[in-house]
Amino acid sequence: MIMLTSKSDSIPFYQPVGNEIALFEYAYNNQLPLLIKGPTGCGKTRFIRRMASRLGRPLFTVVEARKDTTVVLHPLADDRRILPIDRTGELLMAPAQFMLVISYNPGYQNFLKGMKPSTRQRFISLRFQFPQPEVERIILIQESGIEPSIAAQLVTLAGALRALKDHDLEESVSTRLLIYAAKLIKDGFPPVESCRSAMVETLTDDLETAHGLMEVVHAIFGE
Ligand SMILES: Nc1ncnc2c1ncn2[C@@H]1O[C@H](COP(=O)(O)OP(=O)(O)OP(=O)(O)O)[C@@H](O)[C@H]1O
Ligand SMILES: [Mg+2]
Repeated sequence: MIMLTSKSDSIPFYQPVGNEIALFEYAYNNQLPLLIKGPTGCGKTRFIRRMASRLGRPLFTVVEARKDTTVVLHPLADDRRILPIDRTGELLMAPAQFMLVISYNPGYQNFLKGMKPSTRQRFISLRFQFPQPEVERIILIQESGIEPSIAAQLVTLAGALRALKDHDLEESVSTRLLIYAAKLIKDGFPPVESCRSAMVETLTDDLETAHGLMEVVHAIFGE
C-alpha cells in the first residue's frame, strides 16, 4: 500500500479508544518512533492517518518492510535520526517533524518475531484491540450510516464470533468486516446474507467452520 495524504485532504473520521492520541502526540513531540500492533482491521491505519492529519504532516506508507531493512533503520530510529544510503554515500537527516511508525499484526506475521531486540527497543509501543462494543457501534454507524439497532446487533454478533474458541480461524472478525456487512445491509441485502458474504465466507474456506459461524449469525439475526 502506498498512501499519501496532504494538508488539503479531508480529516479522516477516527473514534478514539483509549489514550492513543496523547501517546502518539507525546512520541511525535519527543521524536520517538512508534510501534503499533493489533489484529487486522482494528483501526491502526485509520488512527495513523488521523494523527498525520491532526499534526498537519503528510503520510508516506511503505509496503511490508523486509526483515533485513529493519537494521538499516537503526540510526533513523534512535536519537541520531539519520539514514545513510550506502549505494550513493548520501547521509539523510530527518527533520524535527519526521516520525517513524511501524504497524503490524502480531501472531501470524512473524516480522517482529524476527526483529532483533536492538531494533525493537528503539520504539515505544501501542497495542490495539477491537474497540469496546459501545465504541464499535459508533464506528459502524458513522462509517456505514446503518440504523443504531442493526449496528448493535452486528456488534453483538462480532462479540459472539470473537468469543468462539474452537474454530480454525487465523484471526476473528474485524471492525473492517463489520463495516462491510453494515454497508450491505444498508444497501438492501438481507442481514443474514450480508453477514455470510462480508464475514463468514471471508473468514473461512472450511465448510464446517462456516456452518458453525452461520449458526451464530442465525441466532442473532433470525431467519
Ligand atoms: N477507532 C476507529 N475509528 C474510526 N474508524 C475505525 C476505527 N477502528 C476501525 N475503523 C474502521 O475500520 C476500518 C479498518 O481499519 P484499518 O484499515 O485502520 O485497520 P488496520 O488495523 O490498519 O488493519 P491492517 O492490519 O489489516 O492494516 C477503517 O477503514 C475504518 O472504517
Ligand atoms: Mg493497516
